[in-house]
Amino acid sequence: MAPNQFPDDFIWGAATASYQIEGAVREDGRGESIWDRFSHTPGKVTNGDTGDVAADHYHRMSEDVALMRALELNGYRFSVAWSRILPQGDGPVNEAGLDFYDRLVDELLAAEITPFLTLYHWDLPQALQDRFGGWLSRQMVDMFARYADVVSRRLGDRVRYWATFNEPRIFIWLGYIEGTHAPGLADWTGGAQAAHHVMLAHGAAFRTLRQNLGADAQLGIVYALSPIETVSDDPEILARQRLLDARTNCWFLDPVLRGEYPPELLDAPQWANLQTEPGDLALIRTPVDFVGINYYSRTLLAPDSAGKGDLHDSAPNPGAEYTAMGWEVYPQGLYTTLRRVHERYAVPALYVTENGAAFDDVLEPDGRVRDPRRSAYLRAHFKAAQRAIADGVPLKGYFVWSLLDNFEWAHGYEKRFGITYVDYPTGARTLKDSARFYQSVIRANAVPEE
Ligand code: FCB
Repeated sequence: MAPNQFPDDFIWGAATASYQIEGAVREDGRGESIWDRFSHTPGKVTNGDTGDVAADHYHRMSEDVALMRALELNGYRFSVAWSRILPQGDGPVNEAGLDFYDRLVDELLAAEITPFLTLYHWDLPQALQDRFGGWLSRQMVDMFARYADVVSRRLGDRVRYWATFNEPRIFIWLGYIEGTHAPGLADWTGGAQAAHHVMLAHGAAFRTLRQNLGADAQLGIVYALSPIETVSDDPEILARQRLLDARTNCWFLDPVLRGEYPPELLDAPQWANLQTEPGDLALIRTPVDFVGINYYSRTLLAPDSAGKGDLHDSAPNPGAEYTAMGWEVYPQGLYTTLRRVHERYAVPALYVTENGAAFDDVLEPDGRVRDPRRSAYLRAHFKAAQRAIADGVPLKGYFVWSLLDNFEWAHGYEKRFGITYVDYPTGARTLKDSARFYQSVIRANAVPEE
């Protein structure tokens, strides 16, 4: 393999999530999700934006698959909206909801694009929040396993790659500990307990999926990871580094892949009241076929970092480049992360399931979106991935976040992550320059020289 080439069967894809792109929130029997409720609550989302229409993907699905085909993608990572399938979370199945994903999968396969399905990308049916307090309740484990059963029975004959959860740490932290995401709860003890239930639900769904889909299915989970680095070796900072690494990277990786929680975590007072049952960790520990890594930036700790020990603990790096999210551009961190996950957990396959950047893109009068910084960001991260592969990391594919500009959670439509520009008033799509750049990478299966 030439040095700048990726492996022959490498998957080049793009990623999206149901609530962020679909819209059509009241169509074909879909039930309310916690993100419908949260985004319609005044003051929760920038500009009062909601996912009611989003990128209108529900109506433009064929057009979007055509877009993927034009880009020559060979993989597409999407999530299923639980509330389309089981509008009340459990109870009757809504066939029309399943039909939508059925058509999507067929169109992808016809375009020779491999579907990567995520069951849970944060849009829990509101009914389950109302009845049980969402993930605060252990009853969610059975609910989630049933949902996994219903979806896998319908799509399992055509979808080979399944992820249970997207970024448990982020939705627990923002939704249950800090309250800036749905369902808007702010309580550490509840957050730690909810996280444990999410892990159990992963374990239960994993078993259901394996039973329904057999040994050939590729089953995994997707994490948001970030290396914790420090500006000095001051003992206070090093202690914070250990704690934050446990909270950021190992909290959800260790129980699934090693059958234990990191000790630094359990020693913290927030975990003192964790309710568990015998056998829990045995259920959570699962022989995954792959781990998906969402990588955006590193975490840099300094004596005067903001929000010490929490999700936002990070210090500015003078002179570094930052994206419109305020995240440092730091491709080296992707390399470090891939190496570390490989060395610590030895999973058979890794995928970069999300990587990308938000910038303040402008659709110019000539119909072009010139986003050289996004292309440069991608180029540098592809190269970091390539270095990891050269060092023996079993990285099998890469999904750019995102195919389309979309509803960026509490930031609404203000942050544009797409390689495709979406004009929200009309829904019109325009490939940004970075999409063309990405296409050239896919065609060459290599990062072209600058
Ligand atoms: C990740 C989420 C994804 C998107 C990107 C920017 O944390 O999984 O939905 O919001 O960040």
